Parts: sequence; structure tokens; C-alpha cells
Amino acid sequence: MTVILAAALAAADRAEFTKQGELLLPPHYREWVFLSSGLGMTYGPNAPAPGTPLRFDNVFVNPPAYREFLKTGQWPEGTILLLEIRASQTKGSINQHGQFQTGAVALEAHVKDTRRFPKTKGWAFAGFEEKDGRFAATAKVIPPGNRCEECHSQKGAVDATFVQFYPELIPVAKKQGTWNEANSAAGRH
Ligand code: HEC
Repeated sequence: MTVILAAALAAADRAEFTKQGELLLPPHYREWVFLSSGLGMTYGPNAPAPGTPLRFDNVFVNPPAYREFLKTGQWPEGTILLLEIRASQTKGSINQHGQFQTGAVALEAHVKDTRRFPKTKGWAFAGFEEKDGRFAATAKVIPPGNRCEECHSQKGAVDATFVQFYPELIPVAKKQGTWNEANSAAGRH
């Protein structure tokens, strides 16, 4: 019964939590809106060691939040953004150069719920544990005052999110006046 209920809630295409306050894995996030991929992005001063395999990250958002953002340049209540990290490979099948995506290695979430997280402007972060390429059904919310929050709030161009890296949303935020130029400026974290 609980399982069925949890599945029904998660299928609602918004951030949903268990009674214990854990974030539910949205089972259909791969059908959500794709914002962008980054390849081997790093934000700190240290370059990765030569030959380190690059990872892709794919960003998805729940469709109702995306539609609202297109209208207002703002993320509504229940927004859930997912960062799916995948390994990469060069030689495989007919491929000789460049890189393609392989198995998922991490899945991180950024959610907005002002009632639950009033002290952090409604935002919270969570990471789903991975085992054999599958993610846990729930994830613990990372307590406030973490490094995720620090970087996102200081460097994210729109409301603690990295819209500067989601090309289709940049003009929307600029037009709606929600774009933070200083946060999006070049420079290391
Ligand atoms: C030093 C800066 C930095 C830190 C620390 C950081 N992130 Fe991010 N995060 C980014 C950047 C840059 C992107 C954009 C990625 C892209 O363009 O593919 C991003 C994107 C995301 C996204 C996609 C939605 C959004 O908000 O734009 C999620 C989810 C996310 N990060 C989760 C986390 C979690 C969870 C942590 C902590 C465990 C964390 N991040 C720590 C820089 C950071």
C-alpha cells in the first residue's frame, strides 16, 4: 500500500517527500524536460589530472516548473531539478573519436519547497545513492549550510540555479528580469 502510494505521489511530476522528509526519486524523470549537458565541467582551481575520463552531466526539470519558468523566469513551488552524471567512453561500436555517454554514476537533486525549507529561500539539495547503475528510491535532504548551497546561491544566475548553462532559458530570465549578472560572471568559485 505504502509503495503504491509513494509511486502515485512521485508520478505527480513535482518534488515529493516521504513522511520522514526524504525526497522521492521521480520514476519518470527521463521523460522530463532536458535543460542541457555539461562535459567534464570543473569549478575549482585544480585542473583534472591528464587522462582523467570526462563525465557528462544531464540536467532535467519537472515539466510544470519548466512551463512556469518560460512564462515568469521563476521556479515555482515543487520545482525539482535533477543532475544526472554519466561516465563517458570513446572507443565503442563504430565510434573512433569524441565521447558518448555510458552508465549513470550519480543523481543529485535541487528542490524548491518554501514550507519545508524556509531558511534557505525554499531550496534544498539531495543525492540519490547509486548501486549497479540504479538509484535508491529516496534520498536524504542534505542539512542546510552545505557547500552545494554556498556555490549555487553565490554563482547561480537565477535563484540559486545555474541557468547560465541552460542556453534556452538564458533569454527568458533576461527578459523577465530574474537574471543575476554578477552571479553569472566569469571567475572561479
Ligand atoms: C562549486 C560550485 C558547485 C557546488 C559546490 C555544487 N554545484 Fe551543483 N551545479 C554547479 C554548476 C556549475 C551546475 C550546472 C551544471 C551544468 O551546466 O551541467 C550545477 C547544477 C546542479 C544541479 C542542476 C540544477 C541547478 O540547480 O542548476 C543540481 C541538481 C546540482 N547542481 C546539485 C548539487 C548538489 C546536490 C551539490 C552538493 C552535494 C552541488 N550541486 C554542489 C555548481 C556547483
